[in-house]
Amino acid sequence: TLFGPEIRAAIDAQIAKYPPEWKQSAVMAALTIVQDANGGWLTTELMDRVAAYLDMPPIAVYEVATFYSMYDLKPQGRHKVCVCNSISCMLNGSEALIAHVEHQYGVKPGEISADGRFTLKEVECLGACRDAPVVLIDKVYHERLTPEALDRLIEGLD
Ligand code: FES
Repeated sequence: TLFGPEIRAAIDAQIAKYPPEWKQSAVMAALTIVQDANGGWLTTELMDRVAAYLDMPPIAVYEVATFYSMYDLKPQGRHKVCVCNSISCMLNGSEALIAHVEHQYGVKPGEISADGRFTLKEVECLGACRDAPVVLIDKVYHERLTPEALDRLIEGLD
């Protein structure tokens, strides 16, 4: 199940990194674990399970899940193509990357490609501005991307 023994063991391993009275500190890791197990997105039920498991009010978990762009609250494509659109990346061509994906695949930010292969996301600064423009695909950074290079990466997704 989506909150079965394996998931709980993975969350327990995160909780163990903190003093017992601070187990809520594991909330981001716990959300990542359940999101990964659920095809890349969080249902309200999953967030509620995390809240109960960490003895947190559900609203506090929703706040975390809605604040950070790595969490998604609706179904996703098999991969996430996250284009940074903060200032350094914007000045170095991120808008051209997004325009290219829109044109090539008919996908706007927030949408899933027709074949279900990927979701295009616009995200805030990924902390790698020196190598702008930056695109995060699943959990891997790709830097100084041209539209052609991004295209090759997308073509390589299964
Ligand atoms: Fe894109 Fe910082 S502005 S990584």
